[in-house]
Amino acid sequence: MQRLVSAMCLKMIFTVETLAGLGIEKTIGRQQRKIDNVSDNIKSNNAQSPQVSSLSNRATWAAGQPIDELMGMALAKPNIISLAAGFVDNETLPVEMTRHAVADMLAESPAPLQYGTNHGDPELREMLLSDSIAQDNAAAQTHQACQTPLEQVLITPGSNQLLYMVADTLLDPGDIVICAAPSYFVFMGAVKNVGGRTLGVTIDQQGMLPDALEAALQQLDDQGELHQVKAIYTIPYYDNPTGTSLSSKRRQRILEIARKWSKYHKIYIISDEAYRLLRYQGKDIPSIHHWDPHLEHSIITSTFSKSYSPGIRVGWGYIPNELVEPLINHKSNLDFGSPFFTQRIMANVLKRGDWNRHVTRLRKNYAVKQQAILQALDKYLEPIENCHWYQPKGGLCVWLTLPDDIDTGPAGTLLSTTIDAGLLYVPGQYCFPVEGQRVNRSTIRLTFGVQSAASIDQGIAILAESIAKIRT
Ligand SMILES: Cc1ncc(COP(=O)(O)O)c(C=O)c1O
Repeated sequence: MQRLVSAMCLKMIFTVETLAGLGIEKTIGRQQRKIDNVSDNIKSNNAQSPQVSSLSNRATWAAGQPIDELMGMALAKPNIISLAAGFVDNETLPVEMTRHAVADMLAESPAPLQYGTNHGDPELREMLLSDSIAQDNAAAQTHQACQTPLEQVLITPGSNQLLYMVADTLLDPGDIVICAAPSYFVFMGAVKNVGGRTLGVTIDQQGMLPDALEAALQQLDDQGELHQVKAIYTIPYYDNPTGTSLSSKRRQRILEIARKWSKYHKIYIISDEAYRLLRYQGKDIPSIHHWDPHLEHSIITSTFSKSYSPGIRVGWGYIPNELVEPLINHKSNLDFGSPFFTQRIMANVLKRGDWNRHVTRLRKNYAVKQQAILQALDKYLEPIENCHWYQPKGGLCVWLTLPDDIDTGPAGTLLSTTIDAGLLYVPGQYCFPVEGQRVNRSTIRLTFGVQSAASIDQGIAILAESIAKIRT
């Protein structure tokens, strides 16, 4: 059984690695040549193989996303301790709240079983927007009135669809999105899927370094590539994968930088706020939306997946005015509206005040799990020299840096050793953008949402034992 797990995992990783071949290029400009090469290969294959000829370039660029295999592995192998896939805790899924919300809404009307609108349910959009403005005002201790029209609020089936549509709406092949290095690999896959390039800038414990961002933009300008920069992607709250949060000063600075470097066309900030509500320590920080109330540069995305249920899969976004029509056009072609049933469930959950109650419960539950993983890291990894991690103030990830001599990916021996011993993690190398900051192959993303405190402890013990084993 374990051999099968290893084989499946290694297959998954080699598939990813093959594709991440694109991801290892660091020189700005090379990606376009890679894309051209992919097109050339497809063209030359066309001559020989009629099957290949029917695939679009995008179909080729779409391959190799690690998310499916990681989620599949975690679900299919119940005995492996998975600190890999970003699932939420089964024990805290809101069964009763959801049952009540469904019963109430169906007692009221059959409408939730009908199609909805492209924009999404107006009542839900209204509640989400006023909730966000209230959160930002509380965090900033101000009373700023809402300056975002409801028209600029869009519901999608999960924030991932919105992130994908934004990438597709902004990027032509060869265009660039600047990301933190490391960053959320699913979004980077979406950029690659549409032929875009991701360029990574250095981070510290407070996330993306504004000076590094400016230096990257300067370099791109010097190279004549600034016109291809379309967006800066950030996860400002409890980042996936690093757990870092952008300080309020940095949020404002990044907004200034986006404004300043919008020389050829607008550079947008995509602020992915999926984890905002999972805060275990410290104070809330206003969203970038607060400093850009008319959404001139900012695209804010969020989701109920982490703070309520990923099975319901409702996400939303606050969108600059000029992007509403293109995104709606895109969505008309995609699904002409997100599932109405799940939107109405969430509208009911919000009206009953159940979302807040649930988030309070989640915070307590995840804070305990986060402590468990940090204590286990102290217990088992502190004795190993040059292992580093730090305590995020929220979210579901911990980022681990191991000694330089350990390659945590398929090229090293740690991954297969830990899988054989019963632990699955995400090799950090999959989280690095294609260009820019170098890939650190000695890193690991750990997520602690699903496992119990005891399994987390056991998983980290396996990791430490595996490190010891490969070094003897
Ligand atoms: C940073 C980040 N953004 C977006 C998403 C997508 O969430 P969903 O599509 O379920 O809303 C995830 C999911 O793990 C995430 O970690």
